[in-house]
Amino acid sequence: MKFTAKTTILNILFLLVGAAILLFLLKAPEETTSRLPMDDTHRKFQSGISKKAAEKQCGQCHGPGGEAQLPPDHPPPYRCLFCHKRQI
Ligand code: HEC
Ligand code: HEC
Repeated sequence: MKFTAKTTILNILFLLVGAAILLFLLKAPEETTSRLPMDDTHRKFQSGISKKAAEKQCGQCHGPGGEAQLPPDHPPPYRCLFCHKRQI
């Protein structure tokens, strides 16, 4: 392959785009969604149980009629642990 001015420009462009994407990712906002709390109620869901099996039980308290119902503006709550991440 011959190194022409065109390949040099393309290489520089490629590097610039890569740097821009990297900067964008580094500047992304921190996750703000609360994590699965590390308390007596929630500790048994932190580990040793699959996410799906754990999520089946969240509704007992967070579902309709539960003691800790979700706020009305809550996003669709299908997979709790994808948004409310476990701590371990
Ligand atoms: C036995 C009842 C019960 C179960 C089961 C339960 N929770 Fe909770 N949860 C609570 C109560 C009560 C609160 C509010 C007080 C507190 O923070 O412990 C709460 C609070 C939370 C919070 C808010 C924490 C914060 O920072 O404000 C999240 C997130 C949460 N639960 C997620 C879950 C998920 C996900 C599951 C299923 C894996 C689950 N909970 C299962 C009772 C329960
Ligand atoms: C698509 C992402 C998403 C999913 C799925 C989800 N949540 Fe949330 N949840 C949020 C956001 C965003 C809030 C608003 C407050 C915040 O930023 O933490 C919230 C708030 C809450 C709160 C109120 C306390 C707090 O942290 O403000 C509880 C309790 C809660 N969620 C439990 C659950 C449970 C239980 C499930 C599964 C049935 C679930 N969530 C599924 C994103 C999600």
